[in-house]
Amino acid sequence: MIDGKKILFSGMQATGNLTLGNYLGALKNWVTLCDEYKCFYSVVDLHSITVRQDPAELRKRARSLLTLYIAAGLDPEKNCIYYQSHVSGHSELSWILNCYTYMGELNRMTQFKDKAAKHTDNINAGLFTYPVLMAADILLYQTDVVPVGKDQLQHLEITRDIAQRFNAIYGDVFAIPEPYIGKTGASIKSLQAPEKKMSKSDENPNASIYLMDDPDTVMRKFKRAVTDLQAQVRYNPEQAGIYNLINIYSACTGKTPEEIEREFDGKGYGDFKAAVGEAVVNVLRPLQERYADLCKNKDYIDSVIKNNAEKANYYAVKTLRKVQKKIGFPERIR
Ligand code: TYM
Repeated sequence: MIDGKKILFSGMQATGNLTLGNYLGALKNWVTLCDEYKCFYSVVDLHSITVRQDPAELRKRARSLLTLYIAAGLDPEKNCIYYQSHVSGHSELSWILNCYTYMGELNRMTQFKDKAAKHTDNINAGLFTYPVLMAADILLYQTDVVPVGKDQLQHLEITRDIAQRFNAIYGDVFAIPEPYIGKTGASIKSLQAPEKKMSKSDENPNASIYLMDDPDTVMRKFKRAVTDLQAQVRYNPEQAGIYNLINIYSACTGKTPEEIEREFDGKGYGDFKAAVGEAVVNVLRPLQERYADLCKNKDYIDSVIKNNAEKANYYAVKTLRKVQKKIGFPERIR
């Protein structure tokens, strides 16, 4: 607890352009949770280097992502918005937790298997221990709740396992975090291959809506979205393309799938796709406008970066010292 509130942590990678999946699956929920929890939202740049990055590009994307957090409605006075690499506790705790994590557990991680298959020339140890760094992110703040999309649930499970194992040896050191999955938008799929998740790293630009896409691009991508020949707007998982479009429309408008089925009863896919496109444009427009305004205010963003890293560091060091003491590292002489 901090200031009488439960603690929330989440993060996003500063890799690639953020998609509608990132927004509807994570960022949108973050904004609604701000009042209830003491929140830490990190730009997880340490995670990004598990895949080779261009340095200038990484720096630019990290800043852009941090700015986008604020543009999406996270108030940096109330939420701790910071770069993971600015708080060294993440790396330090990650090393420690590595020693309490088994190779067998990490071998089971589906994200590792997927990424290793994609980057065969660079299957580095960081890619393998990626979930341990993620566990460190979460446990460092004594986190109670972690809002994520469904693709991150396996990482949450291993985080809980590591925390419980550590606590079983040393007493109640870490809070045991629970995942928080939003009601809608938790699993947004590719517009071109709706059995796959919408992903920043998809090579086909028509598969994903990027948060900075202009209205014409959004409308065009939805027009081209893969559907089926059933010609019925039904919330049926077997109609994977339409199912995904209903989820997107639902997450953007707040309408339930049943209401959406009724709204488009007897109407063609063309009408439905246009309506989904417009709903998405309406969600993205204010976000893009706020983002453009914030980008003009360099000093403000710089001050957020500095102040929030200090705040995050304060809480991170508290947990880290507790862990170091429990393990038996020598005390610091002041
Ligand atoms: P990342 O950067 O891949 O994604 C950020 C968030 O977006 C969600 N998401 C989706 N949700 C619904 N549909 C989709 N198609 C979709 N694609 C992505 C993800 O579930 C995630 O919530 N390992 C994490 C980052 C991370 C983290 C953490 C998250 C590092 N440390 C600690 C939570 C807590 C990742 O790569 O997310």
